[in-house]
Amino acid sequence: MGGVSCTRQTTPAAAALAVVLLVMCSAVTSCPPSDRAALLAFKAALHEPHLGIFNSWTGADCCNKWYGVSCDQETRRVADINLRGESEEPIFERAHRTGYMTGYISPKICKLKRLSSITIADWKGISGEIPRCITSLPFLRIIDLIGNQISGTIPSDIGRLHRLTVLNVADNAISGWMPPSLTNVTSLMHLDLRNNKISGPIPRAFGNLQMLSRALLSGNQISGPIPESLTRIYRLADLDLSRNLISGPIPSSLGKMAVLSTLNLDMNRLSGPIPVSLFSSGISDLNISRNSLDGKIPDAFGVRSYFTVLDLSYNKLSGPIPKSITSASYVGHLDLSHNHLCGPIPTGSPFDHLEASSFVFNDCLCGKPLNKPC
Ligand SMILES: *[C@@H]1O[C@H](CO)[C@@H](O)[C@H](O)[C@H]1NC(C)=O
Ligand SMILES: *[C@@H]1O[C@H](CO)[C@@H](O)[C@H](O)[C@H]1NC(C)=O
Repeated sequence: MGGVSCTRQTTPAAAALAVVLLVMCSAVTSCPPSDRAALLAFKAALHEPHLGIFNSWTGADCCNKWYGVSCDQETRRVADINLRGESEEPIFERAHRTGYMTGYISPKICKLKRLSSITIADWKGISGEIPRCITSLPFLRIIDLIGNQISGTIPSDIGRLHRLTVLNVADNAISGWMPPSLTNVTSLMHLDLRNNKISGPIPRAFGNLQMLSRALLSGNQISGPIPESLTRIYRLADLDLSRNLISGPIPSSLGKMAVLSTLNLDMNRLSGPIPVSLFSSGISDLNISRNSLDGKIPDAFGVRSYFTVLDLSYNKLSGPIPKSITSASYVGHLDLSHNHLCGPIPTGSPFDHLEASSFVFNDCLCGKPLNKPC
């Protein structure tokens, strides 16, 4: 209010002025009636029977103590909706339960033109689609709808959201292809589409997402190859494509990525050899189990090889376990079972703690810890 105080005055003239100021002050400090109406319409499409999270959504000022709503300090427009069904807030502690909510996300939410984040997570029962109009919210940075029953597709014009950094719709029932326009969301840092019903290929231009650090696409029906462009995402640290229908070879450039540390490609239809580069990369958590990979295990371990997880099980790998594996800095969990490996199991530090289950169901491996002398 530019230095004008909003407290009451005493003289009659001042009192009159004060009334005017009070009206002005409250007009500025409370949320716009249109935002309030949009929130109430949003609430009307939802049903939360156990906790009463919407009980606080009363009164004129939706910026004041409405559970999960926050406003921009200056404009007093609604900026964030943050409703999590799994939380340690008192309202949950008192009820001794996690949240459950049914209904759908009303398109009226799109009247909140200054929204910067929408988090409606882990309510288990919210269904319906992601409102199409969400792509008309130019300030949106975070969409987090994890853990509901949301169906339908990812809006085909999602690329309009130039500020979006987080898109998390994991654990829902989203179907259809990833829209090509997704690759236009170049601000995206965290993409989590796990455990949905998404089909079709990974868009060829996926590598346009240069800010991406986590790409989690596991548990869908994604098919086609791993696009080469993906390996040019400099910041990508965590790539999870497991439990899909992805085919073709593992691009060897995956092993040259600057900060990639977790690579999960398990349970797909990948074929061909394991690229040599994967074993001397920065990858420390590598699961390529349950594919159709063949050829030999590359003899390419060295001091740069540091694996908390190295799971190559259930493939068609043949030949010996390479000697160089004993020069790896660390191998925590190793699984080479269910392949066609043959020959002596190397002895040395990475193997001292391993059990027979790491080596069983191969053609002719021998030595400790198997019960089969060479
Ligand atoms: C991506 O953005 C560019 C430039 O804004 C536009 O020309 C192109 O059609 C968009 N691509 C998709 C698939 O939406
Ligand atoms: C690797 O992936 C397979 C198949 O999805 C899974 O069963 C296994 O537990 C994973 N390995 C590790 C060490 O997490």
